[in-house]
Amino acid sequence: MPHDIVILGIFVADAAFRCDAPPRLGETVLGTGFTLGPGGKGSNQAVAAAMAGGDVGFLTRIGKDTFGAMGQETWARAGVHPLAVIDESLPTGAAGIFVETGTGKNAIVVSPGAAGAISVADVAAQAEAIGQARVALTQLEQPMAAAEAFLRVAREGGAITILNPAPAAPLPQGMLALCDYLIPNEAEAEGLTGIAVTDRDSAARAGGALLDQGVGKAVIVTLGGDGALVCDAAGARHVPPINAGPVVDTTGAGDAFNGGFATALAEGRGLEDALRFATAVAAISVTRAGAAAAMPTRAEVEALLAR
Ligand code: RIB
Ligand code: NA
Repeated sequence: MPHDIVILGIFVADAAFRCDAPPRLGETVLGTGFTLGPGGKGSNQAVAAAMAGGDVGFLTRIGKDTFGAMGQETWARAGVHPLAVIDESLPTGAAGIFVETGTGKNAIVVSPGAAGAISVADVAAQAEAIGQARVALTQLEQPMAAAEAFLRVAREGGAITILNPAPAAPLPQGMLALCDYLIPNEAEAEGLTGIAVTDRDSAARAGGALLDQGVGKAVIVTLGGDGALVCDAAGARHVPPINAGPVVDTTGAGDAFNGGFATALAEGRGLEDALRFATAVAAISVTRAGAAAAMPTRAEVEALLAR
């Protein structure tokens, strides 16, 4: 059965520690709280998109274990349709996350486990679903070759393609030309361009450089608490943030933005409208602890936008 949105990416279990400040090497600090919950950028994006009202197929690989079962429960609850390979030879991955209590900022180590074995063949096996989607979205936590094949198949099928280049990595020649939308954060935009992204002006320069490198429609640099900066043929403009309440945990905020953006585009919304919708999804997510667990419902997003 075809889906409006197809997302390729990883699922992992997030082991999240709250602390006053993350430990430095050689240091032990006492935490103030711990949760084990669903994470992985692709899965978080799929959950965000589905909860925001999208019809989402999620292409991934998990192990046959407790964390894999957590993934399947997460997708069932959010209404994500899994296109998942169950790998009996590898464990589902995990992420270790430190969330700083005062700022809600985080530091993450992610080990993809079974999802690290997502292959070009896995993508080829889902070519029909990918080709029939209106919107195709991926990131860079699974192998680069699979991400590239995914964007290529999606482009050939006529889908709108979105790459969230996270975590930052050098891209193969020609990859940006497969993307209609590129959505890096400040650090990723800097990694791809060499331009230090510290404010809206530098984000506009980095975005412009990435547009020149072949991105089809727009580059959207997310700016944390300052919203986003969008660059397209019409120039660069700021997308203001929305305040949905005190910031508790920014883990997954970028995923919320990407998932919300995919849902809005799949509904045929224009760019400005889709950016506002994505901003609202992200705004709510940072007011709650966790990654996938923080994603808002459609009703919550609409209530915030109507405020
Ligand atoms: O974007 C946040 C996610 O990055 C976390 O859920 C963690 O699993 C890492 O993949
Ligand atoms: Na959050």
